[in-house]
Amino acid sequence: MKVLGVSGSPIRNSNTDRALKAALEATGVETEFIKLSKYNISPCIACLGCVDTNLCIQKDDGIMLAEKAREADALIVAGYTPYSSLDARTKAFLERLYPLRHQKGLMQKKPGGIIVTCAVPQGHPMLPNACENGINAISYYMMEEGMEIVGKVAILGNAPCVRCHAFPGCETSGLRMIFGPEATVESVGIHSFEDQPETMDAARELGRDIAAALKTR
Ligand SMILES: Cc1cc2nc3c(=O)[nH]c(=O)nc-3n(C[C@H](O)[C@H](O)[C@H](O)COP(=O)(O)O)c2cc1C
Repeated sequence: MKVLGVSGSPIRNSNTDRALKAALEATGVETEFIKLSKYNISPCIACLGCVDTNLCIQKDDGIMLAEKAREADALIVAGYTPYSSLDARTKAFLERLYPLRHQKGLMQKKPGGIIVTCAVPQGHPMLPNACENGINAISYYMMEEGMEIVGKVAILGNAPCVRCHAFPGCETSGLRMIFGPEATVESVGIHSFEDQPETMDAARELGRDIAAALKTR
């Protein structure tokens, strides 16, 4: 049994990556971690060139990544939420799994897990629920391909402004947009997956539940 974990986060050793690795480790089976930003992957071009072969005709890393998903027994997809939606790399990866659909439904019934990091806390009075949007986007892929969604984990991450040299002078600070005009890096803090015990438990539980779902297949 093998579980493939795919992270769309381009940040080195990000919250998203660490949560995905925690979930993979908790499966207790063979796993592979993929960081999409290390690969070239374009979105689907809707040409239907994959209908008879279940292989994409675009010559980039999307073919190899889809083959990894095809060979894996379960898939955990982890993304983040620029502009309150699922990030483009993770979305492109999901679109490039379309070749696995035709005629055979090659992802059907595979257990799937979802992890999404967002900077806007859930329940924010004005801003969209970014984590929910990201989770929904991955869920829709899994649902429409007949996968078994085993679990969903939302992580509170950081606005890029916490690492930006232009803050606090910047007039368009995302940190202030989210946390109010007086927000500083010190008052908001740096949000770490490891400082969110419930989220860590949820990531490990996701891994264990994926392993349990694999045993029943
Ligand atoms: C261009 C850009 C736009 C972003 N917009 C949002 C947003 O609208 N809502 C949100 O929750 N997070 C937003 N983020 C923050 C990312 O979700 C954040 O980088 C994520 O929480 C992962 O960061 P971390 O792993 O460093 O914590 C944005 C990040 C970038 C780079």
